[in-house]
Amino acid sequence: MSSPRGQFSSKTGFIMAAAGSAVGLGNIWGFPTQTASNGGAAFVLAYLVLAFCLAYPALMAELTLGRHSRSNTVDGLASVASSPLTKFFGRFTGWYGIVVASLILSFYTIIAGWMVAYLIAPAAEMMSLDAAHHWLTEQSNGRNLIFGGLFAGLTMAIIASGVESGIERWSTRLMPALIVLLLLLIIYVLTQEGAAEGLKLYLLPDLSQLTNPDLIVSAMGQAFFSLSLGVGTMMIYGSYLSKDDSLPRLGAIVTTVDVGIAFTAGLLIIPAMFVAQHHGATIYSESGDLLAGPDLIFQVLPVLFESMGAAGPWVAIAFFGLMTIASLTSSISMLEVPVARAVETSQASRPVVTLIIGGIIFAISAVIILNFGSLFGLVVDFTTKYSQPILGILLCIFAGWIMHRDRLLSELKEGHEDIEDSLFWKIWPVYVRFFCPALIVLSFYKSL
Ligand code: PHE
Repeated sequence: MSSPRGQFSSKTGFIMAAAGSAVGLGNIWGFPTQTASNGGAAFVLAYLVLAFCLAYPALMAELTLGRHSRSNTVDGLASVASSPLTKFFGRFTGWYGIVVASLILSFYTIIAGWMVAYLIAPAAEMMSLDAAHHWLTEQSNGRNLIFGGLFAGLTMAIIASGVESGIERWSTRLMPALIVLLLLLIIYVLTQEGAAEGLKLYLLPDLSQLTNPDLIVSAMGQAFFSLSLGVGTMMIYGSYLSKDDSLPRLGAIVTTVDVGIAFTAGLLIIPAMFVAQHHGATIYSESGDLLAGPDLIFQVLPVLFESMGAAGPWVAIAFFGLMTIASLTSSISMLEVPVARAVETSQASRPVVTLIIGGIIFAISAVIILNFGSLFGLVVDFTTKYSQPILGILLCIFAGWIMHRDRLLSELKEGHEDIEDSLFWKIWPVYVRFFCPALIVLSFYKSL
């Protein structure tokens, strides 16, 4: 059979990898723009509550299932079930997660490819290579295929090296770089004219928005995507954790880092939009909403970089470097979900498996690139809007109802001796059984 299972070598290694998975385009791009279009600080408030009261308990369900089963998601879920029906249900959930993780990776790779192209573009500009600069910053199938492919290759190279020397080593290098770049950019932007206006929008809540059901639904979706929930990523990372570590503590650290970085990214992006407006950028759409998504990143922010004179290209490199790093530590965690299953059930080596699965997923990216208008939105909605919440419910049902209660509790005690005195112990097992699935169903129902 297969080679021995990988394991994270230290707590820090796990925290860097899991936080690296969580912190991605969802934090640096998604969170600030959702905040801007959903009533500013009111959204931040709703997000904070949902991240800790809904996403954290769901994350704990995944980490517990993962570490207990010490296996890939398909066989792991089947192993905690006892009847043929629940075992089937476990395999189904595992496969559904693998498909969704792969599809998220296929569209994520395209966006990350744009980031890589924009990372290189300022260098072309500094060397006065105008044609190259133009090619790098204009949408074209050729550019998207080349840079998407480059990014997919980086993701595969890291995953091929395994848990400790691939995932852990690179997350531990890249995450500190990400934080330093983020802080440098914030200091720069906050000292520019116009920044105060953005800060006001970001930090002063319009409380009337808090009763808006759309706001709550968007905040929930954002929390699920941002913490990489549902698709099995956190379950797989949990399966590489040692029995000496306290799951509730590690989960709380990862949640706090993820929320903290999303909040901090808001301090950069929203003020940056207003600084760009100061330099002539249009930051509102025709319907009066703040621009979001690609328009924000590839139209508004470049106005800002251009206004900076000689510093502009360097700041642009720092910004798109930040986006590329954030994407890479997330994309590796998505690829690990299908790769772990194949490595554990086939004779082939990890590098071969990685190359085959990564190649198939990039082929899907290529199909989406070539049919962008009809496929991109469809894949994003199918995976993030519908599948992630459904899978979130299924995993809570597994931890709360299907995994035997004694096994659940003894798994939680590993690495956390005095856990019986904690609030977590008293609340969580019941909470994950009833409250989490109910809340997800409710918000989901509203969003339909
Ligand atoms: N959490 C990542 C982000 O915020 C996205 C992600 C989703 C990663 C699902 C893994 C699994 O960008």
